Amino acid sequence: MTYIVTPWKVSGDLDYDKIVKDFGLDIISENLLARIEKHAGELHPLLKRKVFFAHRDLDWILDEYEKDHRFFLYTGRGPSGQTHLGHMIPWFLTKWLQDKFGAELWFQMTDDEKFVFKDGLTLEQTKKLAYENALDVIALGFDEKKTKIFLDTEYAKTLYPQALKVAKRLTFSTAKATFGFSNESNVGEIFFTSVQSVPAFLPSVLKGKNIPCLIPHAVDQDPHFRVARDILPKLGYYKPASIQNKMLPGLKGGKMSASDEGSAVYTTDSPDTAKKRLMNSFTGGRDSIKEQREKGANYSICPIYYHYQQLFMPNDNALANLEQECKGGSILCGECKQRLAERVGKFLVEHQRKREKAKSQLEKFLVRD
Ligand code: TYM
Repeated sequence: MTYIVTPWKVSGDLDYDKIVKDFGLDIISENLLARIEKHAGELHPLLKRKVFFAHRDLDWILDEYEKDHRFFLYTGRGPSGQTHLGHMIPWFLTKWLQDKFGAELWFQMTDDEKFVFKDGLTLEQTKKLAYENALDVIALGFDEKKTKIFLDTEYAKTLYPQALKVAKRLTFSTAKATFGFSNESNVGEIFFTSVQSVPAFLPSVLKGKNIPCLIPHAVDQDPHFRVARDILPKLGYYKPASIQNKMLPGLKGGKMSASDEGSAVYTTDSPDTAKKRLMNSFTGGRDSIKEQREKGANYSICPIYYHYQQLFMPNDNALANLEQECKGGSILCGECKQRLAERVGKFLVEHQRKREKAKSQLEKFLVRD
């Protein structure tokens, strides 16, 4: 089986080389990393470690930046539950990009999307979750003067006329081919990508001049922006650029699933709950201790080593040491998970403190009409 990667379904073997080819993405080259580093003064670990691995037109964004033509950032969240660690990956980099490039951020909460796509969620619930998720965004320390967060249903007067312009250019057959819709899909689903396109050019509409847009997101959202990149130039706007991360796998080896709570760590989990989930997770461990001591773990298939540890170990040397311990068999999976659980626990305590504080800052970030 190969893979399925759409905004609503991710499954199968995520061969990123194949995804890059199939989607028509560009790999983030060493040359591009050097250009980012030149402007930022350093490289974010998620860039160095190639968690962010692909892009569209990032070189153009830097060309424009070098001509003093500044870009804005755009990203978002579909509020269908609490935030998990995977959702935070694009937001970690977005925060860093805002700091390093002084960029404005537009953050879309698609309460409409999750209502039309998810059975059993009411609009009141998705709205409430959007407010919950916004606390996680604010807790990351975005600049309140440069950041606008909005719920689609609360900013509809501004968004809707622009969404219509996109929708008029989008045929059902393109939407079907891009997202895999069928005759059973509801019409809200089919329309929705038009709404997700809007923030990519809304600042240009509001300011009356074209402004480059850079969208950090995981590769699952790329289909939306393929459509947007096709249509926006027809409306007189730039194609949005993107910088894309790999999907953080679920703790049980497959994908993270909202219906299986044990498959992810949520930002609202207590350190104890997170520890339980991490300690129960799938690893690249061998069948016996003896075998692992001799051969080392099968680290290349291990979500814990490959994906989770590198999120929480900013120090390159410490990460390289862990790799040696893992390959050489001197560390067993239990201890590796134990160390990770401690790091994640510390992160959660600190994040939850900032998340509490964010409750009083919320109104400064929200825009409505
Ligand atoms: P949502 O809520 O599914 O995901 C929020 C962000 O997290 C990324 N993501 C992941 N990254 C790493 N590992 C994972 N397992 C993982 N799962 C999700 C997503 O790519 C996304 O960047 N429709 C969007 C909301 C949205 C949006 C946007 C996202 C509106 N405008 C612009 C990105 C950019 C959604 O439901 O995301």
